[in-house]
Amino acid sequence: MRRRDFLISAGATAGLAAWTGIAQRPEAGGSLKATVQTNATLLAARRQFDLADPLPLRHYAERKGLRYGAAIQRNYLSRDPEFAACFARECHLLVPEGELKWRTLRPSLKQFNFAPADALLQFAQQNQMQMRGHTLVWHQSIPKWFATEVNSRNAEGILVNHIQTVMGHYAGKLHSWDVVNEPIHLKDNRADGLRNSPWLQWLGPDYIELAFRTAAATDPNTLLVLNEFGLDYDTWQWNRKREALLTLLQKLLSRGTPIHALGIQAHLWARDSVRFFNPDKMRAFLQSVAALGLKILITELDVADHQLPAQLEERDRLVASIYEDYLSVVLEEPAVIAVLTWGLSDRYTWLARYHPRADQLPVRPLPLDAQLQRKLAWNGIARSFSFAPSRSLAFTPLMKS
Ligand code: G3I
Repeated sequence: MRRRDFLISAGATAGLAAWTGIAQRPEAGGSLKATVQTNATLLAARRQFDLADPLPLRHYAERKGLRYGAAIQRNYLSRDPEFAACFARECHLLVPEGELKWRTLRPSLKQFNFAPADALLQFAQQNQMQMRGHTLVWHQSIPKWFATEVNSRNAEGILVNHIQTVMGHYAGKLHSWDVVNEPIHLKDNRADGLRNSPWLQWLGPDYIELAFRTAAATDPNTLLVLNEFGLDYDTWQWNRKREALLTLLQKLLSRGTPIHALGIQAHLWARDSVRFFNPDKMRAFLQSVAALGLKILITELDVADHQLPAQLEERDRLVASIYEDYLSVVLEEPAVIAVLTWGLSDRYTWLARYHPRADQLPVRPLPLDAQLQRKLAWNGIARSFSFAPSRSLAFTPLMKS
């Protein structure tokens, strides 16, 4: 067992036992009890998250030829200069959390509202950051006017016009674009695993190829990404999803579709991470993606702690372990070029609204706490960067700094 995998299984299982009381369950088998006891001992010894010389995360990443960044909303910039300063200090990449989604960008069929995303691009450029685009084709964040204005006859023209106008507006300025977001959904029961999204209903499965071809023709100087969630765990459901995604990527690439990278969202759930993260399965998946000639970005990483125990130090230690263990495995793969967290500070996280804690305590899923102080999660990320193998940034002319 590699040292890293040992730590993963030790830290994780011990943490799980601590909050589920699994060791006391009469039905728990002998080997499980033994594992839990061994791991509990290790946990008691306390894992270290030390760092020799604390630097901003972007610097730890850059030393290894990686990029680190986070999602942000435009309104935080104006109302929270302290947060904006932390963001500029820690991040090389910035991704608008909602400003480039249709609902914000398209008040009507005829209008484009670029002002919020333009403000974020200006902030990025003033602070030596690069901006990513998120996202051109998604089944969510669809404007209300779609219900009356869009149909299978005009959808292609509307989609192509949207991609040309939006990518044209930012041509040559963005690091990368999530062209198609979350195209796989096995519960829709299609043989190809595709999500039965509005775009698929209007245009058929070829909407994905259409979107990438239009994107490549509009801005040949940006990295085109297919972004997906639910790829991280060794469960029957997620194993099938990874297979369906690989099949889709193979098919698209065999037709010459200009996809450059896979975006792995990596919204981790602490309780699932400790039970279902399998380093070998993850390595094999990343190798399969890299073998297709694709780069890989971790695009929306966070660790949902709503099901963890209330006790703060224990909770923070588990979250930090999950960050470090996940990234350590992922960053072994040289095709991984960037890591973005979905937010930087617990002050602003979608999880507070979407997955709050039953005990009403604030959630703590991100590298900085709500007071903008670095947490153990920050150490976990920094350590994974500093132990990662180096990679070359010179892989493509797209990645100018
Ligand atoms: O803008 C309105 C505001 O006017 C209103 O006062 C407020 C209160 O209801 O809502 C605001 O809009 C919300 C918007 O976030 C901005 O905060 C929407 O209701 C809310 O649905 C929206 O949620 C976003 C969600 O995507 C849907 O677009 C989350 O912030 C964002 O974190 C989340 O991000 C997604 C990624 O794009 C794709 N992967 C999963 C990830 C998490 O769900």
